[in-house]
Amino acid sequence: MKKILRYLLIVLAVVFVAVGGFAAFVAIRGIPSGKAEVVNLKVDVTPERIAKGQKLASMLCKGCHMDPNTNKLTGRKMDEVPQFGVVYSKNITQDPEYGIGKWTDGQLAYLLRTGIKPDGTFLPIMAKLSHMSDDDLQSIIAFLRSDHQWVKADNTQHPPSQYSFLSKFITNIGAIKPMPFPKESVPDPDTTNLVKWGEYIALHRVECYSCHSRDFTKNDYVNPPNSEGFFGGGNEMTGMNGEKVVSRNLTMDEETGIGKWKEEDFIKAVKYGVPPNGPALRPPMTPFPDLSDNEARAIYAYLKSLPKIHNKVDRTLAQ
Ligand code: HEC
Ligand code: HEC
Repeated sequence: MKKILRYLLIVLAVVFVAVGGFAAFVAIRGIPSGKAEVVNLKVDVTPERIAKGQKLASMLCKGCHMDPNTNKLTGRKMDEVPQFGVVYSKNITQDPEYGIGKWTDGQLAYLLRTGIKPDGTFLPIMAKLSHMSDDDLQSIIAFLRSDHQWVKADNTQHPPSQYSFLSKFITNIGAIKPMPFPKESVPDPDTTNLVKWGEYIALHRVECYSCHSRDFTKNDYVNPPNSEGFFGGGNEMTGMNGEKVVSRNLTMDEETGIGKWKEEDFIKAVKYGVPPNGPALRPPMTPFPDLSDNEARAIYAYLKSLPKIHNKVDRTLAQ
């Protein structure tokens, strides 16, 4: 008996030291860094690309980088993700000192796809558009180079982000990690195939699945359909006033998903945040008025092609 007890104590001590050691390692190491590859790219800035890039930036970058005080993409404190630390999104206007005026197109492309800055720093809380088509990605860069009000040089500056232990931990165990830079060119989606087109928008352009699956840390960002509870909702987030807001089940299950909705109901909910069966949708769900009706229709067609998941996400409980 005594022997077993001693054995158990030793095991416990070893575990204790290992866990403590790993925690100390994580705290000291911080967010692991990567290595940026040099990408040779010169984006052809055309009026078409600028227009497309503005639409994409409005859906993909504005939410985190827009500062209402400057009405430019000068960055702000990210109060909605306190668990990740005191994080500031950066000034991405054309200012050469405080913005991205000195970045090359290749450096921007590498960061936007992988999350790794030219100096190797990895940015965990930053969009990673690994699967986006080359033309979409280059359109965003063209927009950043345009003379649009949002990106005009501005010398606003923010303190460096201070990442929490949780941020350091999840990046050290690889739950959030850099995305691969595509080895080949990525073509535009086939817009004549509604399901394929919708798949591209919902997975690779606007990433609806990342919020609408079970849990951010159980998503497969490289191969999204392998994410746990893919589009079945239940991912818990924090709303504007610190309240719990749970993502909805977007599969066609009649009882717990959107199986009883009509296509028009879906378009209205996604574009304007007004679902057929309840009050307006709350942040972090932002309406997507920049999606065309056809794009919203394509997402709907794609959702209809997915297996139904029975998962009741009770909205009243989520308040
Ligand atoms: C979920 C929020 C989020 C979204 C969406 C987002 N960003 Fe960011 N971005 C950040 C944060 C946070 C940082 C800075 C992190 C840090 O420095 O610790 C950042 C940093 C950057 C940087 C590096 C700037 C520098 O000087 O280090 C660039 C460039 C950038 N973002 C461009 C974009 C573009 C373009 C888009 C849209 C395609 C975008 N971001 C979408 C949160 C976001
Ligand atoms: C940042 C996370 C996030 C992203 C990205 C996101 N959603 Fe949502 N969505 C939510 C949350 C959270 C709710 C629940 C809001 C509430 O309870 O008020 C929601 C609700 C919805 C609803 C309402 C469903 C119902 O049963 O009432 C629809 C439809 C929807 N989202 C579609 C989409 C589509 C399509 C996309 C991509 C174009 C998308 N969402 C992207 C978080 C997100």
